[in-house]
Amino acid sequence: MSTSLAFTSPSSYATPLLAVFAVDNSNTPKATAEPALLTQDAAIVAAASSFLTSGEFKAESGGTLLLHAPAGLKAERLLIVGLGKASKLSAAEVRKGAGTAIRTAKTKCIRSVAIAAPIADTLDAAATARALAEGILLANFDADTYRSDREDKSMQSVAVLAESVDHNTIASGFAEGEVFADAQNFARSLVNEPGNVLTPTELGKRAAAMCAEHGLSCEVHSTAKLKELGMGAFLGVAQGSVEPPALIVMRYTPATKSNNNVVALVGKGITFDTGGISIKPADGMDKMKYDMAGAAAMIGAMQAIAALKPTVEVIGVVCSAENMPSGSAYKPGDVLTAMSGKTIEVMNTDAEGRLVLADGLHYAKTLGATHLIDAATLTGACVVALGKLNSGLFSNDEATLEAFQGAVKATQESFWHLPCTDDYRDLIVSDIADIRNTGMDRWGGAITAAMFLKEFVGDTPWVHLDIAGQAWIDETRTYIAKGPSGVAVRSIVEWVRALAR
Ligand code: BES
Ligand code: ZN
Ligand code: ZN
Repeated sequence: MSTSLAFTSPSSYATPLLAVFAVDNSNTPKATAEPALLTQDAAIVAAASSFLTSGEFKAESGGTLLLHAPAGLKAERLLIVGLGKASKLSAAEVRKGAGTAIRTAKTKCIRSVAIAAPIADTLDAAATARALAEGILLANFDADTYRSDREDKSMQSVAVLAESVDHNTIASGFAEGEVFADAQNFARSLVNEPGNVLTPTELGKRAAAMCAEHGLSCEVHSTAKLKELGMGAFLGVAQGSVEPPALIVMRYTPATKSNNNVVALVGKGITFDTGGISIKPADGMDKMKYDMAGAAAMIGAMQAIAALKPTVEVIGVVCSAENMPSGSAYKPGDVLTAMSGKTIEVMNTDAEGRLVLADGLHYAKTLGATHLIDAATLTGACVVALGKLNSGLFSNDEATLEAFQGAVKATQESFWHLPCTDDYRDLIVSDIADIRNTGMDRWGGAITAAMFLKEFVGDTPWVHLDIAGQAWIDETRTYIAKGPSGVAVRSIVEWVRALAR
């Protein structure tokens, strides 16, 4: 798809479909809707006026109205996209609205679209331009690459038409949005790959190719190096599979640094999680190809970081393995010695993500990390606690937590803070080793997992994201297709940028 930004009047732009946004100016929930277009283009207002006054279209969020051959416009069709109440208008609504325009066009096999940038006093020009780019690119993604009857409905060209005078602000916001969304889509494409294609070795190759293309350095290690480093926890998980593990280390070094921070992004990259000897039930096991979504988020984030060039050092560490039952697999009752020297009693081989991350987090510290963030599809318990609309957010440091929450405000993703205070530590005490890899019972399982990771983090400021509930979407939402969501990529990148200040 090619995207472009043009500073021109939307009504004089020839296109198969022109999308324009509308809000509802009425204030109370029960009041009659007062839809109004967010454009200053008089020809569009005239073309749409009878529909806006007819009461058929209320400009509700996600609502659309399609007019053919609109009078006075060069466009063949005019699509009015609702952004909801004017009083609640935000960049998040714009992202969703731009996405809705693209998804609507896709269902009609219209592959070339123009979108009139919304004009409203309450919208920030740069944030709006960024949200438009993100909405367009994220909505264009579909996870049907393996269907042989696949009809390519992806966009060929999308033009954003801006009427404002603030060209530079809009252009840089738009370019930034493209970087964020490309990174998120790259993560989605990795998560979408089946386990037989995307082995740990293949994930290493894809990460290395991205790094080579974007000017990052990258090393991919396997069993020998893991043994040399003493990564007993990571190796324990990997030993049941014929597929060798991959430790992927990506590095971004800025031309100039604002501070001595070294930010490490650590991702869980289980390319398939059968549960191992503590095998999972057959129902739904196919979904466990997405158990590398944390790794994909970090690889995607590194791509965006390479493009945005924040003035802070960043290291990406991905721990990738396949969790399989076999004659060589690790077993419940085994004791593993992690790279940090801590001994771990394995109670359940299905709690493997925390084991690979234990060594990944410790390793990142030995590389000099001053700030740590990990992302992982870590626990079903987190999905039980929060459902599928929020990911779990844990931290050991107030300031770091606040910085991450600030980043989330800018990206409008959804994370919910959960505790991992020391009073929960009893959950992971073992009789025969330093710690055990599951709790005594099933309560608070997302917290147990976070407490386990915290053992390997020490005093280093750290954020842990449990994305099990959000990394895969079962039903297409207004503008995000069902399948891999690419959650967390944008917030992680935004947080890294905050640490550069
Ligand atoms: N990969 C799973 C967690 C998961 C569950 C991700 C559902 C996405 C959707 C993880 O490795 C796992 O199996 N965790 C166990 C931990 C338990 C054995 C303590 C779980 O959540 O059941
Ligand atoms: Zn598991
Ligand atoms: Zn897992």
